[in-house]
Amino acid sequence: MTIKLPLHSRITGTGSFLPPNRVSNAALAERLAADGIETSDEWIVERTGIRFRHFAADGVTCSDLGFEAAKRALAAADCDPQALDLIIVATSTPDMVFPSAACMVQQKLGVHGCAAFDLQAVCSGFVYALSVADAMIKVGTASKALIIGSEVFSRILDFKDRTTCVLFGDGAGAAILQRARTGKGILSTFMRSDGQLANLLYRPAGGAAIPMSAQVLEDRSHLVKMAGREVFKHAVRSMSEAADRALDGARLTGADIDLLIPHQANVRIIEATAKHSSIPMDKVYVNVDRFGNTSSASIPIAIDEAIEKGVIKEGSTVLMVAFGAGFTWASMIIRF
Ligand code: ACO
Repeated sequence: MTIKLPLHSRITGTGSFLPPNRVSNAALAERLAADGIETSDEWIVERTGIRFRHFAADGVTCSDLGFEAAKRALAAADCDPQALDLIIVATSTPDMVFPSAACMVQQKLGVHGCAAFDLQAVCSGFVYALSVADAMIKVGTASKALIIGSEVFSRILDFKDRTTCVLFGDGAGAAILQRARTGKGILSTFMRSDGQLANLLYRPAGGAAIPMSAQVLEDRSHLVKMAGREVFKHAVRSMSEAADRALDGARLTGADIDLLIPHQANVRIIEATAKHSSIPMDKVYVNVDRFGNTSSASIPIAIDEAIEKGVIKEGSTVLMVAFGAGFTWASMIIRF
């Protein structure tokens, strides 16, 4: 007698791409100083753990970075792009309001006809997108999905606001998610949001509520605004809750986790999340020092690096936890 395992989804390949221009804290401090804004490598490292970030060159878009990451993920999964039946791009910095960045990636891949859409959950976007694709695969509306987190946050940063512009970077990560009937794959998912807290981290203008105008450019309201301390508190609380819920959903504890991949925003938030779940820091993936906060791209870039370095191996149980504007927070456990 053969036992039929329930249908679920698993990652069969990953890829990532960072634009080549790597900017150190010292170089950024020098750029800001030209505008009379004071910051230092010391302050940034002490408060955030960030040392470098990558910035895309002028004209390079979210779908350009996403396309590069996608090509690598497709190659790693040995997947023909024509076989894809779903493309989701998690992003807050799409090429344009419409069409979606997912349609732009689809165009660059030369694929016709598969479903393609963007998902907007800011820094939680990739975990949200994987959860949506997992659900679609489970109900049979997709079988081979390309999930991308891609951002060019440098385009919406206010380089006159030192409390935000030192935190973010550009980049993309991608994963191929396929239908599977093995014991491996996505074991649990969790997603939450609270729109009551929307104005603690947002980009007020440039959408339909406050369209672009000379006044908007003048008052810089098309750029990121953040209440840093409030965001910090909520991030720690919500990421801890999300870690608990994903562990409960998979009937696991922190001791069962081989690797925690938290959203890479700030090393202090990462340490607090790991501590809450009793996961030692040697089981926590950290690359915020090299890339800064790449928003929806942070988790897929980290997964790709961890696979590449052999930190994630066959059989590894990985907990991913994210938090972002909205507020949104989400988590997932995957057995590789
Ligand atoms: N360089 C030098 N000084 C600075 C800088 C800077 N880049 N930024 C702020 N300061 C100053 C402030 O002006 C303030 O000076 P004051 O005391 O004279 O008024 C002082 O440093 C302390 O400022 P705080 O805002 O209280 O510093 P804090 O320790 O809270 O750190 C930070 C600020 C790093 C933004 C922190 O609040 C944080 O990490 N918050 C989470 C934000 C985040 O990660 N957002 C990303 C999106 S959400 C997510 O991805 C999870």
